[in-house]
Amino acid sequence: MNPSAQPLALAGGPRLRDKPFPAWPVFGAPEEERLLRALRSGKWGKLHGEEVAEFERRFAAMHGCQHGIGVVNGTVSLRIALLAASVPSEGEVIVPPYTFLATASAVIEANAVPVFADVDLETFNLDPGAVERALTPRTRAIIPVHMGGLPADMDRLMAIARKHNLVVIEDAAHAHGASYNGAPVGSLGHLSSFSFQSSKNLTCGEGGIVCTSDERLAEACRSIHNCGRLPGGLWYEHHVMSGNYRLGEFQGAVLNAQLDRLPGQTATRDRNGQWLASRLARIPGVFPQRRGPECTRHSYHLFLFRLDARAFGAPRAAVLRALQAEGIPVSGGYAVPLYRQPLFVNRAFGPYLAGVSGRLDYGKVRCPNCETICYKQGAWLEQNLLLGTASDMEDIARAFEKVHAHRAILNSITV
Ligand SMILES: Cc1ncc(COP(=O)(O)O)c(C=O)c1O
Repeated sequence: MNPSAQPLALAGGPRLRDKPFPAWPVFGAPEEERLLRALRSGKWGKLHGEEVAEFERRFAAMHGCQHGIGVVNGTVSLRIALLAASVPSEGEVIVPPYTFLATASAVIEANAVPVFADVDLETFNLDPGAVERALTPRTRAIIPVHMGGLPADMDRLMAIARKHNLVVIEDAAHAHGASYNGAPVGSLGHLSSFSFQSSKNLTCGEGGIVCTSDERLAEACRSIHNCGRLPGGLWYEHHVMSGNYRLGEFQGAVLNAQLDRLPGQTATRDRNGQWLASRLARIPGVFPQRRGPECTRHSYHLFLFRLDARAFGAPRAAVLRALQAEGIPVSGGYAVPLYRQPLFVNRAFGPYLAGVSGRLDYGKVRCPNCETICYKQGAWLEQNLLLGTASDMEDIARAFEKVHAHRAILNSITV
């Protein structure tokens, strides 16, 4: 029976789907074997073991880089990249406001000033035009996020960077295995940063990596993540203010096994994501993240879309609740632009930015596209759904179609 002919689950009708979507993380014998081998070796730290070194080589090569430096998470990796690139104290770093906290908080932890530039409404990625408008004589770096796994507009961003002598650090926390005009994400800026936190497309629970092909930057990252030591130097010899941010061997073991799975999983997500985008785009008011031909592989950490309430015929919150009731786990995404977080509004920067925080007023920042996405239209599905079968994708599409068919009822539901 056509599911759209049934009443909405929210209104007491049958749920379209009870089956769970694929669980995350996916793991098995290869992870167990590598972990046990690392355990039994007794070499549990990066300085003595082989797992992290092997992973760094493989991951960097897969992402078109000569160097990879494995660290404890994808926040520290951004901060290390900023420090390695010598972004000066209180220099400005342009970031998007539609992203996880770390893209901007890492800037503050490098004692630099995050400057928010708006995102494109259709791609959810940093808008190069907004970046140009945000430039000042103090701008030193740009951190584009490949949002949800869609590569940012790197050609234009790198052209701006070249013109103004800026460092570009890709925040590729969502974009393992994605590519842009055939080139792997991570190799497009001067440095790149990835996260291996639990939800990410490549995970070991907690972890991160900085990648680069610049020998000098790689050396600086290696030193900063290892207590300021230098290659060939003594163990008890520290050259820059730093700490221990090294990734551990157990994480390295899991990552090596997970890395073998990544290409196949990425191909599945990309195929399913493209199918779903073309099917959902037929529904009035549903606008999947726009993907241009320059995106040669989308990693679909998130399947992002906008719900235009007027065109759809029902409010976003009610549509999302109706989809959840049908058995589709969907989220409204980041609820506020990053600059609206109390941290920024109250300039609660702890010991950082003491010299300049008096002149910073994040309460005045306006990024209209980001505000539309956060407050009115944004939504996403998580990557594990896209590891499903064609029939799982069909269920998602049918749930959207069913909710759209019953949109009139949703206007009388309070959420
Ligand atoms: C865009 C983005 N950047 C950076 C991070 C920080 O990574 P981590 O949680 O490993 O510190 C995350 C994720 O959590 C993220 O989504």
